[in-house]
Amino acid sequence: MPSPRKRLIEDLLNSGLRTPVLETHRGITENEVFVAHCVLKAGLPKDIHQELGIYQDLQDRLGDHYNEIFPKVVLRHDDEQLAVIEMNWLGRSLNEEVFKPLAWGEWSSVLAMSPDAPAIKAKLSMADEAVARTLDHLETLFAASQRSDPAMARAFASETIAALRVNLRRAGLLPELGRDLAAIEESEDLWSAGLAISCCHRDLMVEHIYLAQRDGALRVRLADPRSGVPHFDETPAGRAIIPNSLGCAAVDFAHLELSLIRRQLELEHIHAGTEVVALERVRKSVTDWVNRDRFSSAFYELAMATWYANYAGWPPALGKVPPPEKEWLFDHTVTQARQCLARCAALARGEQ
Ligand SMILES: Nc1ncnc2c1ncn2[C@@H]1O[C@H](COP(=O)(O)OP(=O)(O)O)[C@@H](O)[C@H]1O
Ligand SMILES: [Mg+2]
Repeated sequence: MPSPRKRLIEDLLNSGLRTPVLETHRGITENEVFVAHCVLKAGLPKDIHQELGIYQDLQDRLGDHYNEIFPKVVLRHDDEQLAVIEMNWLGRSLNEEVFKPLAWGEWSSVLAMSPDAPAIKAKLSMADEAVARTLDHLETLFAASQRSDPAMARAFASETIAALRVNLRRAGLLPELGRDLAAIEESEDLWSAGLAISCCHRDLMVEHIYLAQRDGALRVRLADPRSGVPHFDETPAGRAIIPNSLGCAAVDFAHLELSLIRRQLELEHIHAGTEVVALERVRKSVTDWVNRDRFSSAFYELAMATWYANYAGWPPALGKVPPPEKEWLFDHTVTQARQCLARCAALARGEQ
């Protein structure tokens, strides 16, 4: 029995695609095969409208740059229970293309036995190139929308701190870390000082970076942006939020760095000494942005603490506790969340 969602999607497909992407495939005959792609995302109207709203806000602010970075998105269905957006297919995610096959799939035995094999090197250099293009996109987002706005900087710092509190609570780390968190909450000026405001993604990780080959070159785009730093939407202010992509790019760098750290740990688990070169590229770029006074190293530390706290809670949708093969990575994340929070608290107390 197909689910009602699936049946609706089939009806939408029968009435035609709005965002077709065609790939031409040729065999050895004169025939041509066109593979048509599109993506239909179905969910609760409040969630889908929030997502559509953030894509629209990005489009309004970025103008011509939008299509270089994000998919074209249209609303295809909207009723009381269900809404559907259609967007163009962006390829496979950096996680599916590189990290999953190396850590968990068809390439993991090769990585374990011959880490210098050309195919392994090729995968890691593809990741590096994808991350380099992602950093170019962050630069474009900044150049197209940057502004100095102290009120917005304060609002974004408090959004991040509110998200940090929710994430610590979800992870069961409150009240244990409550005193450190209170010290952080009392120092809003420290965090908001010197934050440049620009369009940001708010959930930038290897699962949301998509790769496709176009004319022999790698094309990189980003999907699934958010209206709030996770899980700001679980606070009263976050629930009332109107989709607005403006914030500080530090949260995007921090999540990108953390998602690469986690993937590097998984690869090291298979073969000690495996190096995800893309990670060094991100760290250099962070130093560069700090040196250009786009955000402070203190705020970057806060953004890192917020993401570590986010991953320190095991998502209930994936079961009650992490499965044995993921436990070590989860435990590492919890330890890092504690340490990162302690460093932020020391900054807040003027001890560092
Ligand atoms: N534009 C897209 N192009 C290609 N694949 C996509 C696209 N959007 C989503 N997907 C696929 O769907 C999965 C979930 O999409 P995502 O938008 O991240 O959902 P969620 O809101 O649940 O996080 C992705 O991991 C990817 O495999
Ligand atoms: Mg997603």
